[in-house]
Formats: sequence, structure tokens, C-alpha cells
Amino acid sequence: MSDKKNTQGFATRAIHHGYHPSEANGSLNPPVYMSSTFAFETAEQGGEMFAGEREGYIYTRLGNPTLDLLEQRMATLENAEAAIVTASGMGAITSAIWTLLEPGDEIIVDKTLYGCTFAFFQHGLAKFGVTVTTVDLTDPANLKPALGDKTKIVYFETPANPNMRLVDIEAIADITHDFNADIRVVVDNTYSTPYLTRPLELGADLTVHSATKYLGGHGDIIAGVITGTKEDMDQIRFFGLKDMTGAVLSPMDAMLILRGLKTLELRMDRHCQNAQALAEMLDVHPQVETVFYPGLEGCPGHEIAKKQMTQPGGMIAFELKGGLEAGIRFMNALELVIRAVSLGDAETLVQHPASMTHSTYSPEERLEHDITDGLVRLSAGLETLDDIKADILRALDGLAGSADVQPLKKSA
Ligand SMILES: Cc1ncc(COP(=O)(O)O)c(C=O)c1O
Repeated sequence: MSDKKNTQGFATRAIHHGYHPSEANGSLNPPVYMSSTFAFETAEQGGEMFAGEREGYIYTRLGNPTLDLLEQRMATLENAEAAIVTASGMGAITSAIWTLLEPGDEIIVDKTLYGCTFAFFQHGLAKFGVTVTTVDLTDPANLKPALGDKTKIVYFETPANPNMRLVDIEAIADITHDFNADIRVVVDNTYSTPYLTRPLELGADLTVHSATKYLGGHGDIIAGVITGTKEDMDQIRFFGLKDMTGAVLSPMDAMLILRGLKTLELRMDRHCQNAQALAEMLDVHPQVETVFYPGLEGCPGHEIAKKQMTQPGGMIAFELKGGLEAGIRFMNALELVIRAVSLGDAETLVQHPASMTHSTYSPEERLEHDITDGLVRLSAGLETLDDIKADILRALDGLAGSADVQPLKKSA
């Protein structure tokens, strides 16, 4: 495979890096290697590969040319030495963390995390003798007193799911590495993608992604990515991924992400444009209490976003004035915008954590995690902006009227 250096533009590398049609009969798209296993020419050759003395493919859980190509592309886009692709975002997170921690170690995590990541840390890791310490990392000053001899990882999302808190990557990486250069700073870069933020350039050690979201971009696959040093990626691939989670991506799904990456820059530009316009519209609407979008001046993450994001992203969180009931009525009144979890798709998606993803939390527990009852999360899609605006405005204007919950419309 061709090995172009990082000198080309982001979109060029997202489309071309690591493959030229001359390598496969002129095929514009790289072949998809739908093979679980690979033949050895001789028993001796197989033996050399198992011993690590010869390069080559053995079995797809250990490596596959289609997965390799996607890994090379993700590594160049994140400006990382190496990358690993996995069967889900949770597969990426768990494969990395199981590899890097041992019983007795401590992981420091931010206050707001995607629900399953939170559950993995609090209910999974904690069962195996790892101490999980929660710190509000939106103020980097909180980190130093929390670091200790047992700390091995500092982990956060930015912007965080679902409430759009931003964490200053460079400040957290500096404080962590000044204390101990061996502690890994791990950033979940799902919301930004490497097009908007490259955490490794800001001092982080690893990134993890749910590639299910913007990287795939079409809501048709579940996948994940890890990036970092070659040494860390080798350890994670041959231990966490191979032996502990087995969360290996299907080559067919890798092909769909390779396809998604070709339009990542274009799509992200449009997601960001639509999100900025929607955030500005929501910000002045009388039924909306607060809008959390880093593109708005006065939003808590605005200054951090200017430092570490090339654009403020496609995700918005906003607080409705009427709390839980307003949230449910707003959701049910939407016709074009789709009520669904996940994000980063062509369709504008909304979810209301208090009645959906976090409905099993008590109101007090939700508040503890900064998830208020009127909070709505919106993933700005790629539709014509005026159509998204009209749908949201109609649903918001309806909140000023009758208290009845509107019937669910089937047309969406
Ligand atoms: C920020 C973030 N990280 C990780 C994940 C987990 O990814 P997946 O659903 O692909 O396992 C998600 C899923 O929504 C997410 O939003």
C-alpha cells in the first residue's frame, strides 16, 4: 500500500491515504477482504508469522487488509502513529481500558460521560479492583489534587454527551504529564471527529471514537476507533482486543466507514453550519431557557472551543422552560426531526434524556450529572436548514398552547 506522509490536506487523505487503484486491478475502491482466515504457503511460513518473525495475515481478529487500510486512514487523520478499529465505540473504550489498567490502579473520569461509558467505569471496572474517581474536569484546577501514585488514566469526552460541557485538552494533558508523564490522557473524540479537534496534537495520549456516529455518518453501522502510539496500539490489539473483548470490526463495516470518511469534511461543514443556525434560533426562543452550543458567545465552552475546535460541531443541547412535560410535548410534536438516540447522521435526531436515555435515574441522580428535566439533545442533520428550523419552531411554539401532549405523528 502507498504510504503518503501527512503533507496532503485532510479531505485528500480521507479519500486516498493508504490505497491506489493500481494496487488492485485498477479498482477505484479498495477490495473488501471478507476472509476470516489467511492461507500460509508452508507450515514454516505460518510458524514464522506466529513467532512475529514475518509480516502477514493470519486471522482477521489479529489483522485484515481492509481493517488495516481503515486504521492507516484514521491514524493519518488523527495525526497518530497508529490506530485500531473495533466493532463498536464501547469495544474501543473497553479494549483500551482493560489493556491499560490493573487491579489497584485508579482512573480519573470527568463528571459527564456517555451512559454506557459511565456504566462500564462505575459498574464494570469497579468490580475488578480499579478505583474510579469522578472529577469535574471542566475546571482543570480540580485535577491536580486528585492525581496520585495509583492514577494511570485521565479520561474525558469533549464536547461531552449529552450536555455539551467542554474540557480543555491541553490544560488537562499538561497538568497530568507534569505530575507523571506515564499517566495516559484518553479523550473520547466522537463529537468532534479529527476534522474539528485533534487531541493528540494537544498532548493527549489516546483517542477513542464511536465511529457509529460522524465517521460512518449514515446510521447504518456500529463501529469504533482507538488512536495513539504504535506501542500502545500493539498492546491493545494483541491483548485487550484479541483476548479480552474480541470486539473486532467486520471488513464489510470497515468498507462503509472508508466510504463515510470520503465525505467527512463536507458533511461536518454542513453539520456545523446547520447547528450554528439552529443554536442561534433556539437561543432567542421564549420557550428555551438555555442553549449549550460552543458556537454561541457566552456559552461556557465557547473560549475552549476557540482554542481546540476548528468549528463548534454539529451537536446542541438546550433546556426547555417547562421541564419534563415540556420535553415530552416538544419531542412528540416534531414531524421531520426524528426522535432517536445516536448522532452524526444525515437526519436531524433529537433525544430527551429525562424521558429516554436517563429515565431510569431519579430526578436527583439526573441533577447530580447535570442532566436537567427539560434538557434536549439535538444532532443537526444535513437537511435543508429552513425545513429543520420550521419543524423545531412549530414544536416549540406549540409549547405555549394547550398542556395536552400532542399525539405522535407517523409522518416522520
Ligand atoms: C461519546 C460516545 N462515546 C462512545 C459511545 C459508544 O459507541 P457505540 O454505540 O458505537 O458503542 C457513544 C454512543 O453513543 C457516544 O456517544
